[in-house]
Amino acid sequence: MSNTEFKPVLLGRIGRPNSQSLESYRADGGYQALAKALSMPNTDVIEVVKASGLRGRGGAGFPTGLKWTFLPKDVNGPIYLCINGDESEPGTFNNRVLIEEDPHQVLEGIVISSFATRATTAYFYLRYEYGRCYRVLKQAIDEMYANNLLGKNILGSNYSLDIHLHRGACAYICGEETGLIESLEGKRAWPRIKPPFPAIEGAFRRPTVVNNVETMACIPHILQHGPEWFMSMGIPKDPNNPRDAGSYGPKLYCISGHVNKPGLVELPMGISARDLIDQHAGGVWKGRKAKAVVPGGISMGFMTEKELDTPLDFSGPGRVGCLGLGTAAVIVIDDQTSMVDVLYNACRFFAHESCGQCTPCREGTAWSTKILERIRAGHGKLSDIDLLLEISSSIGTIPGSTICGLADGAAWPIKTAIHKFRPEFEEYITSGRKSESRLMASAH
Ligand SMILES: Cc1cc2nc3c(=O)[nH]c(=O)nc-3n(C[C@H](O)[C@H](O)[C@H](O)COP(=O)(O)O)c2cc1C
Ligand code: SF4
Repeated sequence: MSNTEFKPVLLGRIGRPNSQSLESYRADGGYQALAKALSMPNTDVIEVVKASGLRGRGGAGFPTGLKWTFLPKDVNGPIYLCINGDESEPGTFNNRVLIEEDPHQVLEGIVISSFATRATTAYFYLRYEYGRCYRVLKQAIDEMYANNLLGKNILGSNYSLDIHLHRGACAYICGEETGLIESLEGKRAWPRIKPPFPAIEGAFRRPTVVNNVETMACIPHILQHGPEWFMSMGIPKDPNNPRDAGSYGPKLYCISGHVNKPGLVELPMGISARDLIDQHAGGVWKGRKAKAVVPGGISMGFMTEKELDTPLDFSGPGRVGCLGLGTAAVIVIDDQTSMVDVLYNACRFFAHESCGQCTPCREGTAWSTKILERIRAGHGKLSDIDLLLEISSSIGTIPGSTICGLADGAAWPIKTAIHKFRPEFEEYITSGRKSESRLMASAH
């Protein structure tokens, strides 16, 4: 399906009068997918989701149906589904829009996914700062209980489910799935050492699935229109790469930074960063050019202007040295902006958000920030550049030195900024320049 033929799916109801109400959702065919799912064996629902090629939208792109099959077959006692609505990756706001404007789409996905995974309780972990989302969700959940869409014997079936809405703890690390689980249990959000993975031992030490809000929003459409329809959008798997699972379905791209028209756009997976900026965000602001673009949240690193034709699917950003597609939150940095300032801002964020359990992450994020502070104060040395690179190559789950992926997310902006913009760092240091710029954003 071409981008011109594409009609929004996940954002399809946004802007309609009372798009948040159960009545309007049902008038548009809402909850028919749930009725269909409840008439099927739960294992068939999993097969449909597996066949669709849906990959998680929370950042890692793990195949959703496959994740559900990791739950043990014979379980005595409860299974939990946790919905990750922590949405703290800088530049990311797609979950917020989905919840505020069309909460029942997400909630229908949650009930279908809970049925498929045999969960009898779903915990919606919502970023604390999202007050409007909280109110909208609370009202939508109340409507569902009043209309037999939650609680005992949903729609007259044998299936029963409760959803608990839980407000988060205001920290980036609460979005990491095991940090989320710890926080949900009332503890400090310190990520757990894995294994055991949540599918075996998650919330309250029970088998648990953690899925993102946008992933949930895709589920009713897959049930309603079938896996082939979902696979008609996006980029097929690479036949020469057995590890490529393809990038199917519609995707929400958040666009922010130095563009004329920041916002949220829905397109089939795989649009290039250049087309996204030029055709959907009104181009770079003030008639300037892009210097760097973040493809999917700051933890993915930077692409250069020359790399903007890279497709924004699950594999594209990795081919140009970025960590991945992440949350598909595209941040544009114009050619008048100092990459030293941009990198400092990113490092300062990760130093603030590191939970401190792992020495390489705690020390690495703090020292990279201090080194950049020194450079910005006009006291940098050329050897600082390699020192930054050394830190970035020794922190994270990829070199195997930390418990969670926050440290990889801290490493990739450093690696890509220095590999791709090294002359700018060298010139900054040798000129003895001091930064006059304000910080671009503050940490939590
Ligand atoms: C530091 C860190 C922060 C994360 N923050 C979020 C988040 O805010 N929302 C989210 O859905 N996933 C986040 N993730 C990814 C989750 O750990 C997990 O992979 C995801 O919720 C799974 O859902 P999905 O399979 O539907 O994508 C984060 C991961 C890390 C390492
Ligand atoms: S990698 Fe960083 S954020 Fe993750 S557990 Fe270790 S110290 Fe905490």
